[in-house]
Amino acid sequence: MTKYVIRGGKPLHGEVEISGAKNAAVAIIPAALLVDGVCRIENVPQISDVSLILKILQELGADVRTVNRTTLDIDCSHIHNGKVSNVMARKIRASYYLVGALLGRFGWAEVPLPGGCDFGGRPIDQHIKGFVAMGADVKVNSGLIQAYTKLGRVSGTQIYLDMVSVGATMNIMLAAVLAEGMTVIENAAKEPHIVDLANFLNSMGAQVMGAGTDVIKIRGVERLNGGTYSIIPDQIEAGTYMAAVAAAGGEVRIRNVIPKHLDCITAKLLEMGVEVEEADDSVLVRRTGKLCRTNVKTLPYPGFPTDMQPQIAVALCLAEGTSVLTEGVYDNRYRYVDELRRMGAQIQVDGKVAVIEGVEKFTGAPVQACDLRAGAAMVIAGLAAQGITEIEKVYHIERGYEDIVRKLNGIGADIRVVVTPDEEKDEATA
Ligand code: EPU
Repeated sequence: MTKYVIRGGKPLHGEVEISGAKNAAVAIIPAALLVDGVCRIENVPQISDVSLILKILQELGADVRTVNRTTLDIDCSHIHNGKVSNVMARKIRASYYLVGALLGRFGWAEVPLPGGCDFGGRPIDQHIKGFVAMGADVKVNSGLIQAYTKLGRVSGTQIYLDMVSVGATMNIMLAAVLAEGMTVIENAAKEPHIVDLANFLNSMGAQVMGAGTDVIKIRGVERLNGGTYSIIPDQIEAGTYMAAVAAAGGEVRIRNVIPKHLDCITAKLLEMGVEVEEADDSVLVRRTGKLCRTNVKTLPYPGFPTDMQPQIAVALCLAEGTSVLTEGVYDNRYRYVDELRRMGAQIQVDGKVAVIEGVEKFTGAPVQACDLRAGAAMVIAGLAAQGITEIEKVYHIERGYEDIVRKLNGIGADIRVVVTPDEEKDEATA
């Protein structure tokens, strides 16, 4: 068992470098299945979700070579199999992208139903609706998604998504790139990683237009060629460090970011009295005075990201006054609240709304990471707290944050990683 032991109460100072975006990487790596040749992918984050998706690709027959710490060459041209048997596919959310990519490449796919953080129900009906509209027969049997086309190729069509879904938008894009004719996705998601996937595909020869707006058009092409592509910086990792400075205080330059992607987070921190100065590819975040209350509602991009909801909640807990936090994407993303209460937080949750009464300080306590972003929130709370916080189940955090302990210790945090070898080994289940 691995846990983080944080001695809190120290402001953060210095510079931190942001890695490549997790939610772009976990779609772009499966997208290599569509490419006839070598894809060189740069700025790949070193996180366990990426290792897992690479393992699944290798089991399918992909040739994966490490060029350097953050650059990979992936060659999927020799794969002839659309069936994913790796049980680990059940444990991560992003394995759903294998359905779109394999369906696009072979006209059929069999992939275990995805897992992912538990925020209440996370159906994939919109993904399936898209594949069916493109001519696939899709069944869910014995925990497997089975998608087959009669003609060996999906066909372009018009698909209206009933809700804004990142996963369904990207999955349909993947299926559509090599489809016969034009696919139009209406009510598409607009997150930066949607644009990144489109840019990756286009750099390999695809014709994806309109990514970043709510109508995406994909003209099917006969093949994609190899090429080189660099993944965008992680908006949520950057936002997490911004929230850490807000909660713990101090002054940190956050490097290798696209400040525009952070606007939705910056706006809320400014309302809370945090100073944020944008430069070309960095933001300087400073918090010296008291934090002010505000209200936050999570929404699809360009709204405030749901993946920053637990982290901003920690800062709101330490702000003067009462804040209202509304979750606008998931049914239940407040499982971490009980953990924060152990540290002194005063939060009342009613459905999707959390009412937060600001407290003077947190006190360190033993807590656990319930999921990836909840885990990041526990780290931030530990940094801001007086005394020692011990966080268990940190494998959730390591799914999505490269080197978080080294990066935080580099800006003045005091975090030790404690491994207890005699206890049962943690299993990554997220
Ligand atoms: N939804 C449906 N049916 C569908 C698809 C989605 O009802 O077919 C609902 C979901 O239940 C949810 C909402 O629509 O209420 C939005 O879900 P979306 O499909 O956008 O989420 P996702 O694709 O499952 C990705 C990220 C999540 C992030 C969301 C929203 C990956 C691998 N996961 O999930 O990331 O919260 O988009 O931005 O890209 C994280 O990184 O911590 C994380 C959870």
